[in-house]
Parts: sequence; C-alpha cells; structure tokens
Amino acid sequence: MNIIVTGGAGFIGSNFIFHMLKKYPDYRIVCLDCLTYAGNLSTLAPVMDNPNFRFVKESITDREAVYKLFEEEHPDMVVNFAAESHVDRSIENPEVFLDTNIKGTAVLMDACRKYGIKRYHQVSTDEVYGDLPLDRPDLFFTEETPIHTSSPYSSSKAGADLLVLAYHRTYGLPVTISRCSNNYGPYHFPEKLIPLMIANALNDKPLPVYGKGENVRDWLYVEDHCKAIDLIIHNGRVGEVYNIGGHNEMKNIDIVKIICKELGKPESLITYVSDRKGHDMRYAIDPTKIHNELGWLPETKFADGIKKTIQWYLDNKEWWETIISGEYQNYYEKMYANR
Ligand code: NAD
Ligand code: DAU
Repeated sequence: MNIIVTGGAGFIGSNFIFHMLKKYPDYRIVCLDCLTYAGNLSTLAPVMDNPNFRFVKESITDREAVYKLFEEEHPDMVVNFAAESHVDRSIENPEVFLDTNIKGTAVLMDACRKYGIKRYHQVSTDEVYGDLPLDRPDLFFTEETPIHTSSPYSSSKAGADLLVLAYHRTYGLPVTISRCSNNYGPYHFPEKLIPLMIANALNDKPLPVYGKGENVRDWLYVEDHCKAIDLIIHNGRVGEVYNIGGHNEMKNIDIVKIICKELGKPESLITYVSDRKGHDMRYAIDPTKIHNELGWLPETKFADGIKKTIQWYLDNKEWWETIISGEYQNYYEKMYANR
C-alpha cells in the first residue's frame, strides 16, 4: 500500500504518519506538505530515515507538482490533512483558506481521477455543523446535521466537503470524509488553546481566555483520531461521512484551570480578553455511526491525555520554543496586544 498523506508536517498529520509507519511496516507513506508557518520538518525527524517514508515539499494547490508526484508514486490512497487550520487567522485573512482548503482539495481529487485511486480520504471538522446552544445538552452533531458554518475557516472546510461528495456522485471517486472534534496532544501548534496556555503558563505570561471562557469543545486525544482515520480508510464505506468525537465536553475556562493546576501556576495568570468574532458556543459529536460500523471508541481519558500532553511540552521545550521565538511573535503581538 502506498499512501500520500498531505499536511503531514503539521499536528495531526505527523501523528498519523507515526501511527501508520509503526502499525504497517510494509506500507509506503509519502508526505506532501509545503511547510507553511504551521508545518515543521523537525517534527518528522523520527521518520526521515525510514526507507518506507518520503517527504515532498510542494503545495496541494500546485496542479503540476501534484500530478508529477502521482506519476512518480502511483498512490493507492490519499489522506488529505493539508489545510489552513486556525479560526482566528481565517477571520484576519480568509483568502488563503479558500485557496488551500477548497482549491487544494479539488486539485488532489483531480489527480485521483486522472491517475486512479483506491481511496481519497478528506480530514474534515465538526465545525462544518456550526454550533449548539449551551442550554440544550441533549443535542449532538450527527452526520445528518445540516452544514451551517460560522467562520471563514469552517466555511472553507464545508466547501471542500461538498466538493468531495460531489466528486463521488458525479465522477464515482471512492471518497470518505471524517469530521472530528478538537484534538490535543504532541506537536500541537502553539497558536491553539491548549499548547498556547501551556507555553504561556510555563513562561508566567497572561493566559488569554476569550469572552467568559464558557464555550464548550469536545476534546479528543490525537492518537484516537489517527486510529479512527486508519479504520475508515481500510473499512469505511465509500461515499460516507463519519463523525469522530471524544464524548468529552469541557468549558475553555476549566481546561485553562486544569493546566494551571498541573503546572503549579496561579489562576491569577488568567486574563479575560475580548471574544472571537462569531465565536461558536458548543461543539458536541455523536460518534454512534463509527462505533457501530467500525467498532471505534476513544481510548484515552482526558485526565490521562492532558497529563501526557503537558509532559510532552515539558520534555520538548526546544520544539515549541523555536516556534514561538520566530515569526510567531509578530502574530501573537497582533492578535493579543490590544485585545
Ligand atoms: P496544522 O495547522 O497543525 O497543520 C497543517 C499542515 O498542512 C501544515 O504542516 C502545513 O504546512 C500544511 N499545509 C498547509 N497548506 C498547505 C498546502 N497548500 N499544501 C501542502 N501542505 C499545506 O493542522 P492540524 O491541526 O494538524 O489539522 C489537520 C487537518 O485536520 C486539517 O484539515 C483540519 O481542518 C483538520 N482538523 C483539525 C482538528 C484539530 O483539532 N486540530 C480537528 C478536526 C479536524
Ligand atoms: O473542532 C475542531 C476544530 O478545532 C478544528 O477544525 C480546528 O482546525 C482547530 O483549530 C480547532 O478549532 P477551535 O477554534 O475550537 O480551536 P482553538 O484552539 O483555536 O480554540 C479553542 C477554544 O478556545 C475556542 O473556544 C477559542 C478559545 N480560545 C482560543 C485561543 C487560541 C481562547 O479562549 N483563547 C485563546 O488564546
């Protein structure tokens, strides 16, 4: 099996590559990633010398480069993680989100049509469903929940999902889509809630909580997400969407307080800042379909996953300190200075 994994120098894609190379020693994995600010080649250092692994630095929006790679590799599958992934950045500058998340997806699928493929898998998000109210804990996103997006990021991901389903219906492309809730774990880029709070707390810097911190996310340990995708690409039904979630809803403020406690830092570091525009209130996934069809269940309890994650950031300071000392400083200043 030869699999092209796009976006593999980012958070979830790298964890997926590690999972696949370990579990399937006879598979070839080709990582296609153009190394945006969120992509880090050092993340892939542990597998760079693996003879079953190849890294290719190109953009999924570059048709010529993508077609050339297909001619060289004749992949059996494509798993598309490559995306602009941060909601706050999409609010500042939507354009690149349309390019990468929508056009890039179309280019990859055109290559799959031209050269043939056993499976194209689109890694999508629960954000395509919009949000749920806080006072209706009985409501969850199912695969039938209508698409109802809030941010330029989620709209671009929803646009891609619709294209993927259209390529299946119109051209018979063998596709699957997974829509997952918030991931956490090793190699999470420090602009996101959990790693940002860990890094700031370790540096005794303010912990910027948007609004009242009451927004709810359904947190899933990244390894559990990777295992779910592994099951879907091998056993999932073509043309189907699978929701993935941890049944682990938590308020942002509670997450930040847990991080303070685990690190022995005072809650007085918490600073309430102005809210994200269009901020989704609550995400909650109903993962019944993937459980019933593929036997998937989240394995990592949040209490254990967050401890492992914090320990990883303590043990791998060089990885995130290098990131936050560069261009990231300008981003941070711009986003948080007068918030
Ligand atoms: P990330 O931002 O950490 O990594 C994205 C990777 O894609 C980077 O390595 C980047 O260099 C690469 N990339 C960006 N544009 C590219 C392009 N044009 N061509 C090639 N590579 C490009 O993202 P992540 O958090 O790992 O998310 C991965 C995927 O999972 C995304 O599609 C995202 O929408 C989806 N997702 C993320 C979460 C989450 O909680 N992080 C949850 C559900 C779904
Ligand atoms: O639900 C899946 C989505 O989860 C993925 O599709 C996205 O790619 C991923 O980035 C993530 O989106 P969120 O917007 O939920 O994640 P983020 O870490 O940016 O924010 C989580 C919550 O924390 C959200 O309610 C906003 C809040 N927040 C975030 C930051 C960065 C803060 O209060 N302060 C912060 O500084």
